[in-house]
Amino acid sequence: MISRDARFGFAALLALAPACDDPLRERAVDALGPEVAGVPRGPLHRRGQPCLTCHDGRSEARAFSVAGTVFVTPDAPDPAPGVVVELASADGRTFRVATNCAGNFFVEPTSFAPRYPLFVALESGRYRVEMDTPVQRDGSCASCHREPASRSDVGQVFLYATPRAFDASGCP
Ligand code: HEC
Ligand code: HEC
Repeated sequence: MISRDARFGFAALLALAPACDDPLRERAVDALGPEVAGVPRGPLHRRGQPCLTCHDGRSEARAFSVAGTVFVTPDAPDPAPGVVVELASADGRTFRVATNCAGNFFVEPTSFAPRYPLFVALESGRYRVEMDTPVQRDGSCASCHREPASRSDVGQVFLYATPRAFDASGCP
């Protein structure tokens, strides 16, 4: 308990510093663990993680409005590149962004900052799947979509409910 109090006191002293003044945020960032060896910080890193935990504009990581990762199926770690993520804002604007080779996508607030609730759909060719309920406020898909699926989580974002051939050629 003493060390915990000391930590909060220290945080209060740092409150005027531009970043790192929020122990809850720091704990959430720490809980995501280190980078995977061999994957540099950038568009292909930390797939499946809640990107906005770090990319919230409060550290050196560039702010995103919406970001996440799309996998091919619910259970396997294969990412789904080239999937179009369609984001439909409550004010009628729609923004479309494609996933990269890690299955990741990210949107900068200057490109599109949605008004919530936000409706989400995925498209690959003529195949389309919609999330039935809109997102109410959280721009990180993985805040809800965590692997493995459990009672409180819906599992990773996936394109196909059952295994299907997916052409990821063209990805390095
Ligand atoms: C644990 C914190 C953390 C998480 C989670 C995280 N990132 Fe990052 N990300 C960083 C940091 C730190 C950098 C490096 C920032 C820099 O070099 O300016 C970075 C860099 C990036 C960059 C390059 C930004 C630029 O300015 O060129 C992209 C793109 C990116 N991340 C995408 C993502 C995506 C997509 C996710 C989720 C799938 C994600 N990140 C999850 C911390 C994180
Ligand atoms: C607030 C929690 C939450 C967030 C944030 C969230 N989802 Fe969902 N998502 C759910 C739940 C719950 C379901 C299952 C019920 C439904 O379809 O509404 C779901 C279902 C889906 C489905 C349909 C899966 C199926 O059954 O075929 C897709 C696709 C999807 N989400 C994509 C996304 C993407 C992409 C993002 C980020 C832009 C995202 N979701 C953000 C909670 C969330």
